[in-house]
Amino acid sequence: MSGLHSGNKVIDESRQGEAVVIENGDIAKGRKLYIESYGCQMNFSDSEIVASIMNGEGFETTRNFEEADVVLLNTCSIRDKAEQTVRKRLEKFNAVKRSKPEMTVGVLGCMAERLKAKLLEEEKIVDLVAGPDAYRDLPNLIKEVDSGRDAVNVILSKEETYADVTPVRMGGNGITAFVSITRGCDNMCTFCVVPFTRGRERSRNPQSIVQEAMDLWSNGYKEITLLGQNVDSYLWYGGGLKKDFEKASDIAKASATNFSQLMAMVAEAVPNMRIRFSTSNPQDMTDDVLHVMAKYDNICNYIHLPVQSGSSRVLKEMNRGHNREEYFELIERVRKIIPDCGISMDMITGFPTETEEEHKETLSLMEYVKYDFGYMFKYSERPGTMAARKLEDDIPEEVKSRRLTEIVDLQQQHSAYRTKEHIGRVEEVLIEGTSKKSAEEWYGRNSQNTVVVFPKENYQPGDFVNVEITNCTAATLIGKAVGYSKNQVTV
Ligand code: 5AD
Ligand code: SF4
Repeated sequence: MSGLHSGNKVIDESRQGEAVVIENGDIAKGRKLYIESYGCQMNFSDSEIVASIMNGEGFETTRNFEEADVVLLNTCSIRDKAEQTVRKRLEKFNAVKRSKPEMTVGVLGCMAERLKAKLLEEEKIVDLVAGPDAYRDLPNLIKEVDSGRDAVNVILSKEETYADVTPVRMGGNGITAFVSITRGCDNMCTFCVVPFTRGRERSRNPQSIVQEAMDLWSNGYKEITLLGQNVDSYLWYGGGLKKDFEKASDIAKASATNFSQLMAMVAEAVPNMRIRFSTSNPQDMTDDVLHVMAKYDNICNYIHLPVQSGSSRVLKEMNRGHNREEYFELIERVRKIIPDCGISMDMITGFPTETEEEHKETLSLMEYVKYDFGYMFKYSERPGTMAARKLEDDIPEEVKSRRLTEIVDLQQQHSAYRTKEHIGRVEEVLIEGTSKKSAEEWYGRNSQNTVVVFPKENYQPGDFVNVEITNCTAATLIGKAVGYSKNQVTV
Protein backbone atom coordinates (compact mmCIF):
# COMPACT_ATOMS: atom_id res chain seq x y z
CA MET A 1 0.00 0.00 0.00
CA SER A 2 1.27 3.47 -0.73
CA GLY A 3 0.63 5.43 2.41
CA LEU A 4 1.86 8.33 4.51
CA HIS A 5 2.77 7.28 8.00
CA SER A 6 2.46 9.60 10.92
CA GLY A 7 2.49 7.93 14.30
CA ASN A 8 0.06 5.04 14.11
CA LYS A 9 -2.18 6.82 11.64
CA VAL A 10 -2.08 5.57 8.09
CA ILE A 11 -3.55 7.66 5.32
CA ASP A 12 -4.25 5.65 2.19
CA GLU A 13 -3.79 7.87 -0.83
CA SER A 14 -5.02 5.36 -3.40
CA ARG A 15 -8.47 6.96 -3.67
CA GLN A 16 -8.30 10.26 -5.49
CA GLY A 17 -9.44 13.40 -3.75
CA GLU A 18 -10.11 11.93 -0.35
CA ALA A 19 -7.88 10.49 2.31
CA VAL A 20 -9.05 7.45 4.24
CA VAL A 21 -7.92 7.49 7.83
CA ILE A 22 -7.33 4.04 9.29
CA GLU A 23 -7.02 4.18 13.05
CA ASN A 24 -4.76 1.79 14.91
CA GLY A 25 -5.63 3.20 18.33
CA ASP A 26 -9.16 3.70 19.60
CA ILE A 27 -8.62 6.83 21.70
CA ALA A 28 -9.55 9.32 19.00
CA LYS A 29 -12.77 7.53 17.95
CA GLY A 30 -12.94 9.90 14.99
CA ARG A 31 -12.78 12.95 17.26
CA LYS A 32 -11.30 16.24 16.19
CA LEU A 33 -8.81 18.30 18.14
CA TYR A 34 -8.57 22.08 18.35
CA ILE A 35 -5.55 23.75 20.03
CA GLU A 36 -5.25 27.42 20.85
CA SER A 37 -1.98 28.90 22.15
CA TYR A 38 -1.17 31.92 24.27
CA GLY A 39 2.06 33.41 25.59
CA CYS A 40 5.59 32.95 24.39
CA GLN A 41 6.97 31.27 21.26
CA MET A 42 7.79 28.26 23.43
CA ASN A 43 4.10 27.68 23.99
CA PHE A 44 3.36 27.80 20.26
CA SER A 45 6.19 25.37 19.71
CA ASP A 46 4.84 23.07 22.45
CA SER A 47 1.42 23.04 20.81
CA GLU A 48 3.05 21.56 17.72
CA ILE A 49 4.42 18.78 19.91
CA VAL A 50 0.97 18.24 21.42
CA ALA A 51 -0.54 18.05 17.92
CA SER A 52 2.05 15.45 16.98
CA ILE A 53 1.34 13.30 20.04
CA MET A 54 -2.42 13.54 19.48
CA ASN A 55 -2.04 12.87 15.73
CA GLY A 56 -0.22 9.71 16.69
CA GLU A 57 -3.39 8.63 18.48
CA GLY A 58 -5.53 9.33 15.42
CA PHE A 59 -6.83 12.78 16.33
CA GLU A 60 -7.22 15.11 13.38
CA THR A 61 -6.67 18.79 14.07
CA THR A 62 -9.21 21.41 13.07
CA ARG A 63 -8.89 25.20 12.89
CA ASN A 64 -12.52 25.67 13.86
CA PHE A 65 -13.24 25.06 17.55
CA GLU A 66 -16.97 24.68 16.95
CA GLU A 67 -16.40 21.40 15.13
CA ALA A 68 -13.89 20.16 17.71
CA ASP A 69 -14.51 17.35 20.18
CA VAL A 70 -11.40 18.04 22.20
CA VAL A 71 -10.41 21.66 22.84
CA LEU A 72 -7.00 22.34 24.37
CA LEU A 73 -5.78 25.76 25.51
CA ASN A 74 -2.05 26.13 25.86
CA THR A 75 -1.82 28.87 28.44
CA CYS A 76 0.47 31.56 29.81
CA SER A 77 0.88 32.79 33.39
CA ILE A 78 3.54 35.42 32.90
CA ARG A 79 1.28 38.34 33.82
CA ASP A 80 -2.16 38.46 35.36
CA LYS A 81 -3.57 39.85 32.11
CA ALA A 82 -2.42 36.73 30.23
CA GLU A 83 -4.38 34.55 32.66
CA GLN A 84 -7.47 36.76 32.40
CA THR A 85 -7.44 36.37 28.61
CA VAL A 86 -7.39 32.60 28.96
CA ARG A 87 -10.22 32.68 31.50
CA LYS A 88 -12.39 34.63 29.06
CA ARG A 89 -11.68 32.01 26.39
CA LEU A 90 -12.56 29.23 28.81
CA GLU A 91 -15.91 30.92 29.49
CA LYS A 92 -16.55 30.90 25.76
CA PHE A 93 -15.69 27.20 25.43
CA ASN A 94 -17.83 26.36 28.43
CA ALA A 95 -20.77 28.16 26.82
CA VAL A 96 -20.35 25.93 23.74
CA LYS A 97 -19.98 22.89 25.97
CA ARG A 98 -23.39 23.51 27.56
CA SER A 99 -25.03 22.52 24.28
CA LYS A 100 -22.33 19.94 23.48
CA PRO A 101 -21.58 18.19 26.80
CA GLU A 102 -19.45 15.49 25.18
CA MET A 103 -16.82 18.10 24.28
CA THR A 104 -13.61 17.82 26.33
CA VAL A 105 -11.95 21.06 27.41
CA GLY A 106 -8.35 20.92 28.62
CA VAL A 107 -5.84 23.42 29.91
CA LEU A 108 -2.17 22.94 29.08
CA GLY A 109 0.98 24.91 29.79
CA CYS A 110 1.87 27.40 32.47
CA MET A 111 -1.59 28.09 33.93
CA ALA A 112 -2.18 24.35 34.19
CA GLU A 113 1.05 24.00 36.10
CA ARG A 114 0.40 27.01 38.33
CA LEU A 115 -3.21 26.29 39.26
CA LYS A 116 -3.11 22.50 38.99
CA ALA A 117 -6.24 20.65 40.16
CA LYS A 118 -7.80 23.95 41.32
CA LEU A 119 -9.06 24.43 37.78
CA LEU A 120 -10.97 21.15 38.06
CA GLU A 121 -12.00 21.06 41.68
CA GLU A 122 -12.69 24.64 42.77
CA GLU A 123 -13.39 26.33 39.52
CA LYS A 124 -14.86 23.35 37.59
CA ILE A 125 -14.10 25.05 34.30
CA VAL A 126 -12.10 22.29 32.63
CA ASP A 127 -12.04 18.50 32.23
CA LEU A 128 -8.32 18.05 31.88
CA VAL A 129 -5.15 19.71 33.20
CA ALA A 130 -1.69 18.92 31.78
CA GLY A 131 1.54 20.75 32.66
CA PRO A 132 4.35 21.44 30.17
CA ASP A 133 6.18 18.16 30.88
CA ALA A 134 3.07 15.95 30.76
CA TYR A 135 2.10 16.04 27.09
CA ARG A 136 3.04 12.43 26.39
CA ASP A 137 0.39 11.52 28.93
CA LEU A 138 -2.39 13.35 27.05
CA PRO A 139 -3.83 10.21 25.42
CA ASN A 140 -4.18 8.62 28.88
CA LEU A 141 -5.66 11.78 30.31
CA ILE A 142 -8.25 11.83 27.53
CA LYS A 143 -9.10 8.21 28.37
CA GLU A 144 -9.58 9.22 32.01
CA VAL A 145 -11.98 11.98 31.01
CA ASP A 146 -13.82 9.52 28.74
CA SER A 147 -14.38 7.24 31.69
CA GLY A 148 -15.75 10.08 33.78
CA ARG A 149 -12.74 10.82 35.97
CA ASP A 150 -10.80 14.02 36.56
CA ALA A 151 -7.59 14.07 34.58
CA VAL A 152 -4.55 15.91 35.93
CA ASN A 153 -0.85 15.52 35.29
CA VAL A 154 1.35 18.39 36.38
CA ILE A 155 4.51 16.46 37.17
CA LEU A 156 7.62 18.36 36.14
CA SER A 157 10.39 16.25 34.70
CA LYS A 158 14.17 16.15 34.96
CA GLU A 159 14.58 14.63 31.52
CA GLU A 160 11.69 15.53 29.25
CA THR A 161 12.69 17.48 26.13
CA TYR A 162 10.33 15.79 23.61
CA ALA A 163 13.48 15.27 21.54
CA ASP A 164 11.97 12.38 19.58
CA VAL A 165 8.60 14.01 18.86
CA THR A 166 8.42 15.57 15.40
CA PRO A 167 6.30 18.71 15.75
CA VAL A 168 3.26 19.06 13.49
CA ARG A 169 3.69 22.53 12.00
CA MET A 170 0.30 24.16 12.42
CA GLY A 171 -0.92 27.33 10.76
CA GLY A 172 2.60 28.52 9.98
CA ASN A 173 3.85 30.02 6.73
CA GLY A 174 5.88 26.93 5.74
CA ILE A 175 9.00 29.12 5.67
CA THR A 176 9.96 29.87 9.28
CA ALA A 177 9.79 27.39 12.16
CA PHE A 178 10.67 27.11 15.84
CA VAL A 179 12.96 24.38 17.13
CA SER A 180 13.06 24.06 20.89
CA ILE A 181 16.50 23.39 22.39
CA THR A 182 16.06 23.83 26.14
CA ARG A 183 13.15 23.56 28.56
CA GLY A 184 12.67 25.21 31.93
CA CYS A 185 14.72 27.94 33.56
CA ASP A 186 17.15 28.09 36.48
CA ASN A 187 17.54 31.84 36.64
CA MET A 188 15.06 32.53 39.41
CA CYS A 189 14.41 36.17 38.56
CA THR A 190 12.27 37.26 41.50
CA PHE A 191 9.35 38.54 39.36
CA CYS A 192 9.05 35.44 37.21
CA VAL A 193 6.69 32.51 37.44
CA VAL A 194 8.46 30.45 34.76
CA PRO A 195 10.79 28.41 37.01
CA PHE A 196 7.65 27.28 38.86
CA THR A 197 5.58 26.53 35.78
CA ARG A 198 8.23 25.08 33.50
CA GLY A 199 10.59 23.53 35.99
CA ARG A 200 14.35 23.31 36.05
CA GLU A 201 16.47 23.80 33.00
CA ARG A 202 17.43 20.88 30.76
CA SER A 203 18.83 20.72 27.25
CA ARG A 204 17.85 18.67 24.26
CA ASN A 205 20.16 16.23 22.49
CA PRO A 206 22.06 18.20 19.80
CA GLN A 207 21.75 15.39 17.23
CA SER A 208 17.97 15.58 17.41
CA ILE A 209 18.13 19.37 16.99
CA VAL A 210 20.39 19.10 13.93
CA GLN A 211 18.15 16.37 12.48
CA GLU A 212 15.04 18.51 12.96
CA ALA A 213 16.76 21.44 11.24
CA MET A 214 17.74 19.22 8.27
CA ASP A 215 14.23 17.80 8.02
CA LEU A 216 12.77 21.30 8.01
CA TRP A 217 15.19 22.32 5.24
CA SER A 218 14.19 19.34 3.13
CA ASN A 219 10.54 20.26 3.67
CA GLY A 220 11.12 23.71 2.21
CA TYR A 221 11.64 25.74 5.39
CA LYS A 222 14.16 28.57 5.09
CA GLU A 223 14.57 29.84 8.64
CA ILE A 224 14.60 28.32 12.11
CA THR A 225 14.57 29.94 15.52
CA LEU A 226 16.29 27.93 18.24
CA LEU A 227 14.06 28.36 21.26
CA GLY A 228 14.53 28.25 24.99
CA GLN A 229 13.89 30.35 28.07
CA ASN A 230 17.64 30.91 28.24
CA VAL A 231 19.34 29.56 25.11
CA ASP A 232 22.87 30.71 26.01
CA SER A 233 22.78 28.41 28.96
CA TYR A 234 22.28 25.34 26.67
CA LEU A 235 24.44 22.45 27.83
CA TRP A 236 24.10 18.86 26.66
CA TYR A 237 26.08 16.29 28.60
CA GLY A 238 24.02 13.20 27.86
CA GLY A 239 20.75 14.30 29.47
CA GLY A 240 19.59 15.53 32.86
CA LEU A 241 19.20 18.87 34.54
CA LYS A 242 21.69 21.66 33.94
CA LYS A 243 22.17 22.02 37.69
CA ASP A 244 23.39 18.42 37.90
CA PHE A 245 26.18 18.94 35.35
CA GLU A 246 28.84 19.07 38.08
CA LYS A 247 27.83 15.57 39.19
CA ALA A 248 28.29 14.15 35.68
CA SER A 249 31.19 11.81 34.83
CA ASP A 250 34.45 13.27 33.50
CA ILE A 251 33.75 11.68 30.11
CA ALA A 252 30.28 13.26 29.95
CA LYS A 253 31.73 16.63 30.92
CA ALA A 254 34.53 16.44 28.38
CA SER A 255 32.16 15.65 25.53
CA ALA A 256 29.52 18.23 26.51
CA THR A 257 28.06 20.60 23.91
CA ASN A 258 27.44 24.25 24.77
CA PHE A 259 25.33 26.82 22.93
CA SER A 260 28.06 28.25 20.70
CA GLN A 261 29.03 24.72 19.65
CA LEU A 262 25.40 23.81 19.00
CA MET A 263 24.93 26.91 16.86
CA ALA A 264 28.01 26.07 14.82
CA MET A 265 26.76 22.49 14.32
CA VAL A 266 23.37 23.70 13.12
CA ALA A 267 24.86 26.44 10.93
CA GLU A 268 27.05 23.87 9.18
CA ALA A 269 24.33 21.21 8.86
CA VAL A 270 21.93 23.62 7.09
CA PRO A 271 24.25 26.18 5.45
CA ASN A 272 21.52 27.80 3.34
CA MET A 273 19.04 28.11 6.13
CA ARG A 274 18.73 31.22 8.26
CA ILE A 275 19.24 30.62 11.95
CA ARG A 276 17.88 32.75 14.78
CA PHE A 277 17.68 32.10 18.49
CA SER A 278 15.69 33.37 21.46
CA THR A 279 15.87 34.23 24.37
CA SER A 280 19.31 35.32 25.55
CA ASN A 281 20.13 36.28 29.10
CA PRO A 282 22.89 38.84 29.51
CA GLN A 283 24.74 36.92 32.22
CA ASP A 284 24.95 33.75 30.13
CA MET A 285 25.81 35.24 26.75
CA THR A 286 29.47 34.48 26.09
CA ASP A 287 31.85 35.98 23.54
CA ASP A 288 32.04 32.50 21.97
CA VAL A 289 28.40 32.88 20.94
CA LEU A 290 29.12 36.30 19.43
CA HIS A 291 32.11 34.96 17.51
CA VAL A 292 30.08 32.05 16.13
CA MET A 293 27.41 34.54 15.03
CA ALA A 294 30.07 36.62 13.30
CA LYS A 295 31.64 33.58 11.67
CA TYR A 296 28.57 32.02 10.07
CA ASP A 297 26.79 33.98 7.40
CA ASN A 298 23.55 32.08 7.91
CA ILE A 299 23.22 33.00 11.60
CA CYS A 300 21.19 36.21 11.71
CA ASN A 301 22.66 39.33 13.23
CA TYR A 302 20.01 39.79 15.82
CA ILE A 303 19.87 39.29 19.58
CA HIS A 304 16.86 39.54 21.84
CA LEU A 305 18.56 40.59 25.04
CA PRO A 306 16.09 41.32 27.85
CA VAL A 307 17.42 43.78 30.44
CA GLN A 308 14.29 44.37 32.63
CA SER A 309 15.61 47.56 34.28
CA GLY A 310 18.31 50.21 33.91
CA SER A 311 19.01 50.40 37.62
CA SER A 312 21.62 48.16 39.25
CA ARG A 313 19.73 48.26 42.55
CA VAL A 314 16.48 47.12 40.92
CA LEU A 315 18.34 44.49 38.91
CA LYS A 316 19.69 43.15 42.19
CA GLU A 317 16.19 43.04 43.68
CA MET A 318 15.12 41.20 40.56
CA ASN A 319 17.96 38.71 41.11
CA ARG A 320 19.21 39.30 37.60
CA GLY A 321 22.73 38.02 37.24
CA HIS A 322 23.99 41.32 35.81
CA ASN A 323 24.12 45.00 36.70
CA ARG A 324 23.85 48.09 34.52
CA GLU A 325 27.59 48.34 33.84
CA GLU A 326 27.94 44.66 32.91
CA TYR A 327 25.05 45.04 30.53
CA PHE A 328 26.72 48.04 28.87
CA GLU A 329 29.95 46.07 28.54
CA LEU A 330 28.07 43.25 26.86
CA ILE A 331 26.41 45.70 24.44
CA GLU A 332 29.86 47.08 23.62
CA ARG A 333 31.18 43.58 22.89
CA VAL A 334 28.18 42.81 20.68
CA ARG A 335 28.70 46.03 18.70
CA LYS A 336 32.43 45.33 18.34
CA ILE A 337 32.14 41.69 17.27
CA ILE A 338 28.95 42.06 15.17
CA PRO A 339 28.85 45.74 14.07
CA ASP A 340 25.44 45.59 12.39
CA CYS A 341 23.65 43.53 15.03
CA GLY A 342 19.97 44.23 15.72
CA ILE A 343 19.24 44.27 19.46
CA SER A 344 15.86 44.15 21.18
CA MET A 345 14.89 44.00 24.84
CA ASP A 346 12.24 43.22 27.42
CA MET A 347 11.68 45.80 30.12
CA ILE A 348 9.57 45.79 33.28
CA THR A 349 8.43 49.07 34.73
CA GLY A 350 7.05 49.64 38.21
CA PHE A 351 8.88 46.78 39.91
CA PRO A 352 8.30 47.07 43.70
CA THR A 353 10.33 49.90 45.29
CA GLU A 354 11.41 51.34 41.91
CA THR A 355 12.01 55.07 42.47
CA GLU A 356 11.60 57.90 39.99
CA GLU A 357 15.42 58.15 39.79
CA GLU A 358 15.67 54.44 38.98
CA HIS A 359 13.01 54.79 36.32
CA LYS A 360 15.16 57.56 34.81
CA GLU A 361 18.09 55.12 34.80
CA THR A 362 15.95 52.82 32.67
CA LEU A 363 15.36 55.69 30.25
CA SER A 364 19.07 56.52 30.15
CA LEU A 365 20.03 52.90 29.57
CA MET A 366 17.63 52.83 26.63
CA GLU A 367 19.10 56.09 25.37
CA TYR A 368 22.55 54.52 25.45
CA VAL A 369 21.62 51.29 23.63
CA LYS A 370 18.93 52.67 21.29
CA TYR A 371 17.26 49.30 20.78
CA ASP A 372 15.85 48.33 17.41
CA PHE A 373 12.67 47.31 19.20
CA GLY A 374 11.44 46.32 22.61
CA TYR A 375 8.74 44.60 24.60
CA MET A 376 7.75 46.63 27.63
CA PHE A 377 5.52 45.61 30.53
CA LYS A 378 4.08 46.90 33.76
CA TYR A 379 5.11 44.77 36.70
CA SER A 380 2.44 42.21 37.50
CA GLU A 381 2.74 40.41 40.83
CA ARG A 382 2.72 36.65 40.38
CA PRO A 383 1.69 34.52 43.36
CA GLY A 384 4.46 32.34 44.75
CA THR A 385 7.36 34.24 43.22
CA MET A 386 10.13 35.63 45.43
CA ALA A 387 9.07 39.22 44.70
CA ALA A 388 5.47 38.47 45.69
CA ARG A 389 6.64 36.88 48.94
CA LYS A 390 9.19 39.52 49.90
CA LEU A 391 8.10 42.83 48.37
CA GLU A 392 4.90 44.77 48.42
CA ASP A 393 3.54 45.68 44.96
CA ASP A 394 3.83 49.31 46.01
CA ILE A 395 4.01 51.32 42.80
CA PRO A 396 0.55 52.82 42.16
CA GLU A 397 -1.15 51.78 38.95
CA GLU A 398 -1.14 55.34 37.55
CA VAL A 399 2.61 55.63 38.17
CA LYS A 400 3.23 52.30 36.45
CA SER A 401 1.12 53.45 33.51
CA ARG A 402 2.90 56.79 33.21
CA ARG A 403 6.34 55.16 33.39
CA LEU A 404 5.29 52.61 30.80
CA THR A 405 4.11 55.36 28.45
CA GLU A 406 7.46 57.11 28.85
CA ILE A 407 9.51 54.07 27.96
CA VAL A 408 7.19 53.08 25.10
CA ASP A 409 7.41 56.60 23.63
CA LEU A 410 11.19 56.62 23.94
CA GLN A 411 11.42 53.19 22.30
CA GLN A 412 9.34 54.44 19.40
CA GLN A 413 11.85 57.24 18.82
CA HIS A 414 14.70 54.74 18.95
CA SER A 415 12.98 52.33 16.57
CA ALA A 416 12.50 55.22 14.13
CA TYR A 417 16.18 56.15 14.55
CA ARG A 418 17.28 52.56 13.91
CA THR A 419 15.06 51.97 10.87
CA LYS A 420 16.38 55.20 9.28
CA GLU A 421 19.92 53.79 9.50
CA HIS A 422 18.95 51.15 6.94
CA ILE A 423 17.91 53.64 4.23
CA GLY A 424 20.20 53.41 1.21
CA ARG A 425 21.47 49.94 2.10
CA VAL A 426 20.85 46.77 0.10
CA GLU A 427 19.78 44.03 2.51
CA GLU A 428 18.95 40.37 2.22
CA VAL A 429 15.28 39.68 2.95
CA LEU A 430 13.59 36.31 3.31
CA ILE A 431 10.05 36.65 1.92
CA GLU A 432 7.47 35.33 4.40
CA GLY A 433 4.19 36.37 2.75
CA THR A 434 1.96 39.15 1.44
CA SER A 435 2.16 42.47 3.26
CA LYS A 436 -0.81 43.11 5.55
CA LYS A 437 -1.18 46.59 4.08
CA SER A 438 -0.96 45.84 0.36
CA ALA A 439 -1.76 42.78 -1.75
CA GLU A 440 0.86 43.95 -4.28
CA GLU A 441 3.71 43.80 -1.78
CA TRP A 442 5.68 41.08 -0.05
CA TYR A 443 6.79 41.27 3.54
CA GLY A 444 9.83 39.60 5.01
CA ARG A 445 12.64 40.30 7.44
CA ASN A 446 16.23 41.37 7.14
CA SER A 447 18.96 39.72 9.18
CA GLN A 448 18.32 42.15 12.06
CA ASN A 449 14.71 40.92 12.25
CA THR A 450 13.18 44.19 11.03
CA VAL A 451 10.17 43.84 8.74
CA VAL A 452 10.76 44.89 5.12
CA VAL A 453 8.00 45.43 2.52
CA PHE A 454 8.54 45.76 -1.24
CA PRO A 455 6.69 45.23 -4.57
CA LYS A 456 6.14 41.57 -5.40
CA GLU A 457 7.34 41.46 -9.04
CA ASN A 458 8.10 37.81 -9.83
CA TYR A 459 9.52 36.83 -6.46
CA GLN A 460 7.89 34.18 -4.28
CA PRO A 461 7.50 33.44 -0.57
CA GLY A 462 10.59 31.60 0.64
CA ASP A 463 12.90 33.49 -1.75
CA PHE A 464 16.02 35.22 -0.43
CA VAL A 465 16.01 38.60 -2.14
CA ASN A 466 18.29 41.63 -2.04
CA VAL A 467 16.19 44.69 -1.32
CA GLU A 468 17.32 48.27 -1.61
CA ILE A 469 15.85 50.16 1.34
CA THR A 470 14.41 53.47 0.16
CA ASN A 471 12.12 54.56 2.98
CA CYS A 472 10.84 53.56 6.42
CA THR A 473 8.27 54.00 9.15
CA ALA A 474 9.15 53.57 12.85
CA ALA A 475 8.84 49.81 12.63
CA THR A 476 9.00 48.87 8.95
CA LEU A 477 11.50 49.23 6.12
CA ILE A 478 10.24 49.97 2.61
CA GLY A 479 12.22 49.12 -0.50
CA LYS A 480 12.58 47.56 -3.91
CA ALA A 481 14.05 44.19 -4.83
CA VAL A 482 17.24 44.36 -6.90
CA GLY A 483 17.68 40.61 -7.49
CA TYR A 484 18.08 37.30 -5.69
CA SER A 485 20.59 37.12 -2.86
CA LYS A 486 23.56 34.77 -3.11
CA ASN A 487 21.80 32.53 -0.59
CA GLN A 488 18.88 31.88 -2.92
CA VAL A 489 19.02 28.19 -3.77
CA THR A 490 17.38 27.28 -7.05
CA VAL A 491 16.14 23.73 -7.19
N1 5AD B 1 5.40 41.20 35.37
C1 5AD B 1 5.63 41.86 34.21
N2 5AD B 1 6.39 41.38 33.23
C2 5AD B 1 6.97 40.17 33.41
N3 5AD B 1 7.80 39.45 32.63
C3 5AD B 1 8.09 38.31 33.27
N4 5AD B 1 7.48 38.28 34.47
C4 5AD B 1 6.78 39.43 34.58
C5 5AD B 1 5.96 39.99 35.60
N5 5AD B 1 5.75 39.36 36.75
C6 5AD B 1 8.30 39.92 31.34
C7 5AD B 1 9.82 39.98 31.33
C8 5AD B 1 10.20 38.79 30.48
C9 5AD B 1 9.03 38.72 29.51
C10 5AD B 1 8.87 37.41 28.84
O1 5AD B 1 7.92 39.02 30.33
O2 5AD B 1 10.22 41.18 30.71
O3 5AD B 1 11.44 38.94 29.83
FE1 SF4 C 1 4.08 32.54 29.51
FE2 SF4 C 1 6.50 32.24 30.41
FE3 SF4 C 1 4.90 30.17 30.33
FE4 SF4 C 1 5.86 31.23 28.09
S1 SF4 C 1 7.02 30.21 29.70
S2 SF4 C 1 3.80 30.60 28.43
S3 SF4 C 1 5.89 33.42 28.64
S4 SF4 C 1 4.66 31.98 31.58
